[in-house]
Amino acid sequence: MMSKSDIIDINSEADQEVPQGSPPDIPKLMPGGNYIRIGKDSAKSTYLLFAPPAEEIGVLARYLNIFKKYEVNLLHIESRPSTKMPDLYEFMVECAPSGCLTRAIEEIKGCSCYLQIISRDYKDHKDTVPWFPRRIRDLDRFANQILSYGSELDADHPGFTDPVYRARRKYFADIAYNYRHGQKLPHVDYTEEERETWGKVFRQLKTLYATHACKEHNHVFPLLEENCGYREDNIPQLEDVSNFLKDCTGFTLRPVAGLLSSRDFLAGLAFRVFHSTQYIRHPSKPFYTPEPDVCHELLGHAPLFADPDFAQFSQEIGLASLGAPDDYIEKLATCFWFTVEFGLCREGDKLKAYGAGLLSSYGELQYAVEGKAEYKDFEPFQTALQKYPITEYQPIYFIAESFEDAKQKMIKYTSTIPRPFGVRYNAYTQSVEVIDSKPQIQRLVGNMGIEMSILLNCLKKI
Ligand SMILES: [Fe+2]
Repeated sequence: MMSKSDIIDINSEADQEVPQGSPPDIPKLMPGGNYIRIGKDSAKSTYLLFAPPAEEIGVLARYLNIFKKYEVNLLHIESRPSTKMPDLYEFMVECAPSGCLTRAIEEIKGCSCYLQIISRDYKDHKDTVPWFPRRIRDLDRFANQILSYGSELDADHPGFTDPVYRARRKYFADIAYNYRHGQKLPHVDYTEEERETWGKVFRQLKTLYATHACKEHNHVFPLLEENCGYREDNIPQLEDVSNFLKDCTGFTLRPVAGLLSSRDFLAGLAFRVFHSTQYIRHPSKPFYTPEPDVCHELLGHAPLFADPDFAQFSQEIGLASLGAPDDYIEKLATCFWFTVEFGLCREGDKLKAYGAGLLSSYGELQYAVEGKAEYKDFEPFQTALQKYPITEYQPIYFIAESFEDAKQKMIKYTSTIPRPFGVRYNAYTQSVEVIDSKPQIQRLVGNMGIEMSILLNCLKKI
């Protein structure tokens, strides 16, 4: 039986130890008992999670023989105690698209207590759950799943004909592409010109915040000025902002090299990770950007992620997205759009903005808050179906009573998403637990009992 430490990762340092010229399609036994094979393209992988019936000698070899028989190449294998059936072990195997995987799966299913199939290539395969990250370090796999790399600008982008700006965008895309979980966020020496652009945006938006931004944004903003270098003449470093957010709510920032799919972007939120750009808009148009930039992320998004209720609301959307069908990913992305990006809330008889798209746009912030559009109450069942433009001011905004209220409504909505399991984020292990068995629920209820007694003890002391 493999021990807990028998983890094989295509990105691990052990990759370096694979001898040059070794056959690429056979897992190789490495010193320390690990099997390994270098794999670069995880996009088309299929992940199998299965538990052998009971501990028996040579069980791994038996499974490896099945993969060998059907010529399925393995990229990664690991074993853990099963959370679903506590007496058993669970294997997680990453298979390259090779051989006769379907028949291998059938045979494995026949000799395992359970089998779950997770794949990015899920559309034509019944019983297959769309791939999602299980551990926070799995977010590293998004780095090569970018829909468009940061340096590829459209012809109508203000920086399209500016070679200096394009080179700069490539620099930012490269540092984000090479970033891995656990590393310090890359420090950037912004140029004088970039700081000037930031200064123009910062100065202008700040004049509106007191009257147009929600109280949560105004509560946090001075703290960012005090702790994270939010100033007219300074672009804050992602590392400083991320550390600040981590202290407040556990949210962290992660640099992103380009556009992620909605599925991947939302999955980050499940781990309280926000994928953030680090470049700034083109200096020729300081009050316009066709895509998110550091002004949008740090002035619009970052302050709200320091609010516990907002952080939890955002995480709920992320957790709901894991393994959800495509049409629900679109609905969740729409809810995200009308809340985290363009949300309004009520404060007394006034409308205030909490959406980052508004808090980072001088023109639209005024337009939205001053009652010039159509307004509806945030109701995920309706909001999720609303169409919206992406290149002009929103014709419709949705109003949340409070973040707590929005979160409760969101939880109610997400419970209707068809998915054969529930998920829960375990902050200790920084991983997502797939909950689909009674022992797991019993253990969680037991933990709740402990939490309750801690709280009751605290209450007695107040
Ligand atoms: Fe955004």
